[in-house]
Amino acid sequence: MTESDQGPLKSSSRRSFLGFGAGLAAIACTAPAGRGAAKERSQEGTVGRRDYPVLIGSVNALPGMQKFYGDLREGAAPLDVAIDVVKVVEANPDDHSVGLGGLPNEDGVVQLDAAVMDGRTHNGGAVGCIENILHPSEVARLVMERTDHCMIVGRGAYEFARLHGHPHTELLTDDARKLWLEWKETHSDLDDRFAPPVEEGKQARNDHGEPEERVTGTIHCSALSTSGEVACTTTTSGLSWKIPGRVGDSPIIGAGLYCDAEAGSAGATGRGEAAILAHSSSALVELLRAGRSPVDAGLEVMARVTRQARRASVWQPGLVDEEGKPTFNLSFYVLGLDGAFAGVRLSGSSEFAVSDPEHGPRLEPTRAYLE
Ligand code: GLY
Repeated sequence: MTESDQGPLKSSSRRSFLGFGAGLAAIACTAPAGRGAAKERSQEGTVGRRDYPVLIGSVNALPGMQKFYGDLREGAAPLDVAIDVVKVVEANPDDHSVGLGGLPNEDGVVQLDAAVMDGRTHNGGAVGCIENILHPSEVARLVMERTDHCMIVGRGAYEFARLHGHPHTELLTDDARKLWLEWKETHSDLDDRFAPPVEEGKQARNDHGEPEERVTGTIHCSALSTSGEVACTTTTSGLSWKIPGRVGDSPIIGAGLYCDAEAGSAGATGRGEAAILAHSSSALVELLRAGRSPVDAGLEVMARVTRQARRASVWQPGLVDEEGKPTFNLSFYVLGLDGAFAGVRLSGSSEFAVSDPEHGPRLEPTRAYLE
């Protein structure tokens, strides 16, 4: 990128343009989205009550929602709560899709991706391929608030986190290491490693003796505050056994997450490549802006993803089955400014986590695009 590509932001940084705390206070005072106004905008096909505050996210967000939904109800900022929710999973060694205990890349190294976005300032930050840092979501926030950039990756992201006091942490747990070793010993007949007897392995295997499926789990959380402000975060260890340096959708603003104070918030989990190629979270929010309900928006973007996968299968045949159904999965979490929400999955049954004033934190079934 040349100097001129960066335009006026270079000389007038986001920080100096808007004193951060004062700017947020001013925006909060003038935010047009009030509870009464939002309730008038009823939409067909919406899942959930039109009331807020609301948290919505992937199924693994439930424990964090149970812990922190009360803060949102008491008026906490949506980004603070969204990050608190995902940090519970980032620190959980038993969740193999995020943070500590996340499954590593093909070299056995845990590389994390995360991003945050704050509707109040329409600002975002992200880290990609960060190693040895427990809370990449917090580092993504630091990128947003303490730099003029949107994304920092790799060694630079690690050094940046250390500069801000994040400790060096070994993220590869013994459990995750054993799963990685098992993959390494079984994924090819063309190397010199021997697979352990199947009964000693920890992963379910298909008829060919291969691990059942690779993990693309992730955690997303979108939040709508008591004053109608939106924010979101997505954090992940990415695709298990990935090529070192691979970045999925989670840290890409517009793909793994997106929010806009004028429209709503959305996020994705599942096959990151599909979410990137559909620019799915930005597409979801744009459909909300156009007046579509969260569930309609989710189903429309899933239809797009399906058509795109069929076209891509010309060069990547395994991407769809003989009936043209994608062989991968993807889930969307969509939240309107009126508190309407939906969890939509490409195929099969699953659940998403949600918390609203009427029922509190719970799991709800996702709506499947393909049965
Ligand atoms: N959606 C997470 C990933 O693909 O990395």
